Formats: sequence, C-alpha cells, structure tokens
Amino acid sequence: MSYSVAIDGPAGAGKSTIAKLLAKKMGYIYVDTGAMYRAMAVYFVQNNVNPDDEREINAAVTGVNITIEYMDGVQQVILNGDNVTGMLRTEEIGSMASKTSKYAAVRRKLVELQRELAKKTDVIMDGRDIGTTVLPDAFCKIYLTASVDARAKRRYDELAQKGEKCDYDIIKKDIEQRDYQDMHREISPLKQADDAVLVDTSDMNIEQVVECIENIINERK
Ligand code: DC
Repeated sequence: MSYSVAIDGPAGAGKSTIAKLLAKKMGYIYVDTGAMYRAMAVYFVQNNVNPDDEREINAAVTGVNITIEYMDGVQQVILNGDNVTGMLRTEEIGSMASKTSKYAAVRRKLVELQRELAKKTDVIMDGRDIGTTVLPDAFCKIYLTASVDARAKRRYDELAQKGEKCDYDIIKKDIEQRDYQDMHREISPLKQADDAVLVDTSDMNIEQVVECIENIINERK
C-alpha cells in the first residue's frame, strides 16, 4: 500500500494548480507527470521526429534520459542534462506530448521513472493514468474534471490575462481534441479508476477544490 495520492483528469481541469497547493499544505512532494511527457515531446520536436511514425519514436526514445530534481520545492525536468522546465508549457509541445504519449515505448520509460519517485517518498502525483496504472495502490485517488466550457473559459482567461491573442472557439476545439486523444488511446487511456472519487470543479474556485480534496485525503488517513 502506497501512501501516495493520485490525481487524474483531463487537460485544463486544474490538476497541477490544485496538486501543487495541496502538496505544500499537506507536506507531500508534488510530481507532475504531464511535464515528463512534455519533456519527451521537446526532444521529439528538437530532433524532428515524426509523431505519426512509431518506429521513429521507438528509435528516438532510446536517446532520451529524463530525470526530476527539486529546486526550492519546485519540480525541474532535466532532459539529457539540460533543464527544460521553462520550455514545456507551449501549445506546440502540449500537442506533441498528446500525440506521442500513446506509444508503449514512451509510456514504459516514464511510468518506470514515476514509480521510482513514488517508491522513495509519498507523493501527490497528477496525470492521466496514475490511479489506474502507475500507482494502483495509492491510498487516495481523485478524478478531477470540469465541463469543456469551464475548462475552455479558464484557459481563455489565463491567456487573455497574459495579453496573448486567443480565440475561445479554437481553445475549446483544442481541448475537445486533446480529451479525445487522451481517452481513446489503446494503452492507459484517461479514465476514472474504479476506486477514485470524482470531483467536478466546473462551479468551484481553487480554494473550494483544495478544501474538498484535503477533506477526502484526511478521511482516508
Ligand atoms: O497534463 P499535461 O497537459 O501537461 O499533459 C501533456 C500530455 O501528456 C497530455 O496530452 C497527455 C499526456 N499524459 C499522459 O498520457 N499521461 C500522464 N500521466 C500525463 C500526461
């Protein structure tokens, strides 16, 4: 039995924001597994790997070494010796990560790393397959979701606040496409684990979600 917490859910449900706050409040180490798929995607983009060609992907994966470090409690992703943390959150990398996370070779490598991290210490780990595949014995599993409209609106507001040009319909379509890809891949698709608690954040603010999940974790202790 692992005393780790698994938080899964679709893109834009607020997993990383919530998991980060919870980890700080409750003294866990936060592990963002999406960042690992994104770091792998940085390598594929940098090396012009075709995301539709599994053989190319398999060959490329053998050249990738990803490790995780913590700087002032913040996760840093190291790709072949370089800290790529600042390069991960672009649409290009997100899209490449979504397309390539369906491949067995990619998942095998990253799931192994994720399990190693959770073996060393209790973690709050977020992703798509944490409760179903990576940490099936996690003592608390949360499936965090929100309606497509709520997620698109949050993303729109976030970009608008940064002064970036954005189109609500394109953002919504992108989220729908990402959901479809993540939920319909053959290996470890995104789905709620049988023993996960569903938390729909469509009408909740960040503080409410943190409190809700903190209560669920404390009830299980
Ligand atoms: O959570 P995120 O947007 O940073 O994740 C990027 C992509 O990585 C996402 O489209 C699906 C994939 N992913 C995955 O397949 N399994 C995980 N545990 C985490 C992310």
